[in-house]
Amino acid sequence: MNQITRSPEAIFGANGSRLTAAARSIWELAGFTLARLRAGDPVRASAMDATLVTGLLLAAIYVGSVGLKHFDHALAGYCAATIVACFAASFRVSLFWRRGPSAFYGRVLLRGLREPRTLMPLLTAARRNLGTQSFIAPRSRVRWAAHMLLSWGTLSAFAVTFPLVWGWLHFESPAPNRYRAIFWFIPVASFDIHGVIAWLAFNALNLSAVAVILGAGYFLVLRLRQRDATTRQAFHIAPIVLLLVVAITGLGLTFTAHLENRIYFRLTLISHEIAVCTLLLSFAYGKLIHLFIRPLQLGAQLLRATCTTPLRCESCARELAPPAQLEAVENLLRSKGFKFNRHQRLCPPCRRRQVASVQCAMLEGRFQALG
Ligand code: HEM
Repeated sequence: MNQITRSPEAIFGANGSRLTAAARSIWELAGFTLARLRAGDPVRASAMDATLVTGLLLAAIYVGSVGLKHFDHALAGYCAATIVACFAASFRVSLFWRRGPSAFYGRVLLRGLREPRTLMPLLTAARRNLGTQSFIAPRSRVRWAAHMLLSWGTLSAFAVTFPLVWGWLHFESPAPNRYRAIFWFIPVASFDIHGVIAWLAFNALNLSAVAVILGAGYFLVLRLRQRDATTRQAFHIAPIVLLLVVAITGLGLTFTAHLENRIYFRLTLISHEIAVCTLLLSFAYGKLIHLFIRPLQLGAQLLRATCTTPLRCESCARELAPPAQLEAVENLLRSKGFKFNRHQRLCPPCRRRQVASVQCAMLEGRFQALG
């Protein structure tokens, strides 16, 4: 008999204990998830995507660590957290990318990658958006510098730790005072252990931690100082605090490693692992998931950069949007049951003017009388 079709009481007993209540909640959640999967809604497709991506990651861990030969079992907790985070993140990203409007820009992006003519504007937009993040500079130079430190510090820390945790990166010593870095089974670098490269390689995480502390520290102070209540909410503050804890405990490992009393190192090690696992497990449901959603913005930019005959406002003839973009918006609105009667063919100022003049006509200019 299918276990899901039996009630939790039938399996765990009906004594009303906390265990039964918890079991019932898990049961209902499992039933709800199964029902949605069977119903064939977008959740099903995204669950399939996430299963595929996680399956590929597991296979890559096995192959890249040479049949787990270079897998460090002491890092199994970190590894488990990355696998769960991979499933949750690919599930959420897939749900987002599969939505009609996102899929539209996703398709533009993929087409752009395939065509040499559009590859250049795409690379320029990627450099501006993801590389130098110059769109932040007009707000403030300090904010831009802090954002660069935070984002590049986090990305470089992830670039070092993920391959280590998955057993993809290890070091060999082919000769005295020489190290060779092996990624998967490919030697990628060989260096003197007293040289600059060795120093950078062994301090990469410390440098990343300093960058993250400076960047996250700036944004935390900024958020706490702001009077705007929304930017002070947990959704905006928690990821910054978490990144700070991860970086501070990581740096703490370097400092406590030399102490005679090992208890400090062990406590820092446990704190770092707990902080990293919390960061990874919350990744898909916080602000940081935008890392994987932001590339869609490149699709929108590409569409505008490659459009030679944009549509113009039907009222003032100001440049409006590429025809394909406007058509996509109109199709979406129609599919949701909205009928705006060419309203979206007007530029925003003309739309506002039109709304105001209609209101004025309907209320015969007596706005105040209603208040
Ligand atoms: C903001 C991101 C992060 C920063 C700034 C950071 C920083 C650090 C630092 C400074 C160290 C000490 C390095 C040393 O001893 O030389 C460290 C250790 C470590 N980190 Fe992190 N880390 C971050 C994220 C992560 C993530 C995402 C993972 C796992 C996927 C991770 C796993 C580890 C591991 C396994 C160690 C070595 C612990 C040991 O000595 O056994 N870290 N980290």
